[in-house]
Amino acid sequence: AGSPLVDALGRPLRDLRISVTDRCNFRCSYCMPKEVFDKNHQFLPHAQLLSFEEITRLARIFVERGVRKIRLTGGEPLLRKNIERLIEMLAVLRTPDGQALDLTLTTNGSLLARKARSLRDAGLQRVTVSLDAMDDAIFRRMNDVDFPVADVLEGIAAAEAAGMAPIKVNMVVKRGTNDHEVLPMARHFRENHGARVVLRFIEYMDVGATNGWRMDEVLPSAQLQARIHAEYPLHALEHANVGETAERWGYQDGRGEIGFISSVTQAFCGDCNRARLSTEGQLYLCLFAGQGHDLRTLLRGPVDGRSATDADISAAVDALWRARRDRYSQLRSELPASPAGSARRVEMSYIGG
Ligand code: GTP
Ligand code: 5AD
Ligand code: SF4
Ligand code: SF4
Repeated sequence: AGSPLVDALGRPLRDLRISVTDRCNFRCSYCMPKEVFDKNHQFLPHAQLLSFEEITRLARIFVERGVRKIRLTGGEPLLRKNIERLIEMLAVLRTPDGQALDLTLTTNGSLLARKARSLRDAGLQRVTVSLDAMDDAIFRRMNDVDFPVADVLEGIAAAEAAGMAPIKVNMVVKRGTNDHEVLPMARHFRENHGARVVLRFIEYMDVGATNGWRMDEVLPSAQLQARIHAEYPLHALEHANVGETAERWGYQDGRGEIGFISSVTQAFCGDCNRARLSTEGQLYLCLFAGQGHDLRTLLRGPVDGRSATDADISAAVDALWRARRDRYSQLRSELPASPAGSARRVEMSYIGG
């Protein structure tokens, strides 16, 4: 409907990331440090969460406005009760020209061995699993709840067996914490999974306000790439999609590919086409935004004495996207090496990756 939707910097809207819960059973220190997310932490009460019907209604409207990819995130999305039902509802959505969406989910893998089959049956085509180490002791320390690495590996195997492809594995690299796991991770996935698993290394980001981010804990992707290349020669691959977060490299011996997500040393805001919907229906136009835009009030109404129609909501989304100027990572890289205005930033566990 209408003219193509682009933001104030000319970027289209293509990717919607929907957080379905703010809870997680892990306490990764770079995301939900235990000292902050403890027994006293108030998670959202159930009535505040968008229902599956509300999420699906919004998703349909976003697809009409250009979204082609939907990712479910959290917290840990597999903790949301009946998530399979939501996947069924989203899997039947079609773009204006009749195409299915790229529907995927980011998980810590802890419940994947149990759920891979039912997720696939519900219509989930692929999955991204977060995994920060192969070494059991290091992994247990990083998730900070003593969760064993073997169970996540079993989850990845189950997703593969259920026919999800390609499976992506995301490793956040923190200097001095898990950088020695980079080569073991690369070796494990290329030797045992080849092209069926794509391992991506993520630079530790200054997202949120609680993780105590420091530039000296960031290991620049260029250094990692050199380390891996010295052991397993790599060659550059083309981007698969415009606005992609990862830079892709293939193993010269054909054993699959890896990726680097370098938002600290090589910001990729220039063609960022991602919008994020929080668990309670706030729309965030950037991972580093200080504030969201309330869509739930529109959904639940009444506004001005009547409930909002799909056209009203669509017009609201349109206006928000057209005004969008966010490019946090780019601005940060132009500033000294410190996080700016961290007190106002939204937490990653609230908004999802
Ligand atoms: P696919 O490659 O299609 O699977 O998608 P993706 O790379 O967009 O998804 P994924 O959720 O795997 O993103 C990987 C990680 O990249 C996230 O967990 C974040 O750490 C980071 N990331 C994703 N989107 C953004 C973004 O817009 N800005 C920044 N700074 N980081 C992002
Ligand atoms: N820096 C980089 N990546 C992060 N993630 C969570 N917090 C951070 C951070 N501070 C990643 C997780 C997971 C996804 C949900 O986001 O590892 O892959
Ligand atoms: Fe949970 Fe993922 Fe955050 Fe770790 S990074 S605490 S698994 S949401
Ligand atoms: Fe997009 Fe914001 Fe990330 Fe830049 S920092 S890529 S604008 S989400």
